[in-house]
Amino acid sequence: MIKLVIPSSKYKQTFISAVKEIKKLQGFISPSVQQFADYDLKRLEGNFENYIVLPLINTMNGVNLPEGFVSATEFWIIKDENFVGRICLRHELTEFMAKYIGHIGYMVVPSFRKQGIATAALKLVLQKAYERSLSEVLVICEDDNDISKHMLIKAINTFGGYEDTPQEKDGKKMLRYWIKTIA
Ligand SMILES: CC(C)(COP(=O)(O)OP(=O)(O)OC[C@H]1O[C@@H](n2cnc3c(N)ncnc32)[C@H](O)[C@@H]1OP(=O)(O)O)[C@@H](O)C(=O)NCCC(=O)NCCS
Repeated sequence: MIKLVIPSSKYKQTFISAVKEIKKLQGFISPSVQQFADYDLKRLEGNFENYIVLPLINTMNGVNLPEGFVSATEFWIIKDENFVGRICLRHELTEFMAKYIGHIGYMVVPSFRKQGIATAALKLVLQKAYERSLSEVLVICEDDNDISKHMLIKAINTFGGYEDTPQEKDGKKMLRYWIKTIA
């Protein structure tokens, strides 16, 4: 149904369509989605490879990492050869990340939501994490993100894991879920 791929210019057009769709969203947008909405359309159209693909490949390979950053793989979620979302696997955790960020972050393009795509992508990334010798991964979500919360509790019930002590950041309760990876 879906696959996870390493970022590539092959998906330029549907990636840009996704950015355009997200730029039109009204009301509160979560920080991970806002970052996507902030992409510059001119640079996306004109220099996709250098603007988007290469920095992601560098981050994956630990090249040119800013201070305090760890290497991470951003997988693009592809359905019928269309970009429909992304899911990031951070290869390790700093003390700060273990409190507030976690190993995994994800986002599905609004017009593709409620089709089981995030659930399927999470399962695939749990396999990728296992391949990186991680036996469990931490996923952190804000207390008011009911959909993500539901997904993560379901993942713990399916694959194993536990809920760790929540943390507070900028007045928000951050829930912390450890999920077993999949061999
Ligand atoms: C959270 C998010 C990734 C879910 O993506 P998705 O592909 O729609 O999720 P799924 O279709 O796999 O649904 C996951 C579960 O949530 C439920 N769900 C999804 N959207 C829902 C909605 N709008 N209302 C109620 N339940 C919903 C689904 O029914 C499913 O539960 P089930 O397995 O018991 O049936 C997506 O809403 C998103 O990108 N949100 C913004 C970014 C974000 O919050 N990222 C997570 C940060 S921790």
